[in-house]
Amino acid sequence: MKDSSLFACVDCGSQSPRWMGFCPSCGSKEPLIEVYQQESRRGSWVLKQSEPLELSGIELDDYPRIVFPDNEFNRVLGGGIVPGSVILLAGDPGVGKSTLLLQSANSLVSATNSSGGKVFYVSGEEANSQIRMRADRLGLSGRNLFLLDETEIDSVFSQLADQIVSALVIDSIQTVYCNSHPGSPGTVGQIRETTRRLINWAKSRMIPVLIAGHVTKDGEVAGPRILEHMVDVVLYLEGESFGPLRILRGIKNRFGSTGEVAVFQMEEDGLKEIADPSQALLSGRSNGQIGSAVVSVLEGTRPLLVEIQALTVPSYSSIPRRIATGIDVNRLVMLSAVLDRRAGIQLGGQDIIVNVVGGLKITEPAIDLGVVLAISSSVKGVPLIDEMVVMGEIGLAGEVRGVSQLGRRLEESSRLGFKSAIAGIADLSFQFSQINLSKVDNISEAIKIGMPRGNLLADLENS
Ligand code: TYD
Ligand code: MG
Repeated sequence: MKDSSLFACVDCGSQSPRWMGFCPSCGSKEPLIEVYQQESRRGSWVLKQSEPLELSGIELDDYPRIVFPDNEFNRVLGGGIVPGSVILLAGDPGVGKSTLLLQSANSLVSATNSSGGKVFYVSGEEANSQIRMRADRLGLSGRNLFLLDETEIDSVFSQLADQIVSALVIDSIQTVYCNSHPGSPGTVGQIRETTRRLINWAKSRMIPVLIAGHVTKDGEVAGPRILEHMVDVVLYLEGESFGPLRILRGIKNRFGSTGEVAVFQMEEDGLKEIADPSQALLSGRSNGQIGSAVVSVLEGTRPLLVEIQALTVPSYSSIPRRIATGIDVNRLVMLSAVLDRRAGIQLGGQDIIVNVVGGLKITEPAIDLGVVLAISSSVKGVPLIDEMVVMGEIGLAGEVRGVSQLGRRLEESSRLGFKSAIAGIADLSFQFSQINLSKVDNISEAIKIGMPRGNLLADLENS
């Protein structure tokens, strides 16, 4: 009986493989209700009588998934694509969305080979010949992968009506439109309407749909923001367009955990999995650089080592500037204020520029200590000690707080040859033998340990 259970909307009747508190198809605020197919009357769905269930008795949902040959992509999706799910791939123009989608479309062809289905790729962004050129560059055979030169959504659906479709790719949502809806492609109303139709189409046929969505510079574009609430899975592709690294991050996933990241490298022939992301992120780094610190951050369940760079220069403006790439600029303002007041590092007349190398965006507060030490190193003109990794959240009193999962972070650091670490520690009995671990309570202590030469210089100046 369980196999033929579904959830349906009381208003529009559209069905979903899982329960939701609203209807993604018609936007109704009524929660979906469970229906099941009667053994005796195949084809008709009846309301399932709900009764209270004890939590421990509820079965874990094990969604069937289309598993990709590409491990990193599966990792972010929580083990593969759930049929009927709608996935949004958002990112800046030029970051590699079309490349990733074309590669995924090709993987989907091989993953669903046995069902004899075809994957359809709707491109309103590029001409078919351009896509063919990209496919050649990626070394894709293109068998069972079909391009649709059509951007009116109902025409797309009618072209697919008599096909066996194993997946549909839309590149991008800003270029498709719906004839029966006012407004030009890319407007909020059009995006909402075409997405609604795509979701309805996907759920009623149990076919996965992958959608690309642009994010503008300020990240405030109406499109992907409203889209995020409607689709099942939201992935962000990040990275510097001109650098090789790309990070694919799960932001929302109705069928799995979020926060997992996959790391790719953009090469001549497409996006390639990186076996050792920490090493790739630190590849251009050398010891003894002023204004540089290495932090161990946790991305999902994976520890990653990233380099933070800081540059301080006397400001020519009456209001010194704070420029941050990869971290929140408000966090930088707060950290420089704390550094100034609590550790006596004068930053009043200084412009401060902070950058996370490799194009990662880090929101984890464990990065604070790295930012503070990189800035201190730049101000004093003294590098931090070699082969040292730091981590810790900083509070307004200048205190360094403990980080979670310290052991895993240190293991990763030790694997990459780091010899010492500075960290805020919650558990004082924590031991780790491979690395010389300094447990600190506040930023002054961290600066003293991380920059012994800086203290020497200060002592000389004072004497
Ligand atoms: P693209 O996928 O078109 O980005 P988006 O769809 O997000 O706008 O790819 C952007 C860049 O990637 C483009 O400048 C060329 C580069 N690229 C490679 O370096 N290697 C490749 O194999 C491909 C296909 C693209
Ligand atoms: Mg594109």
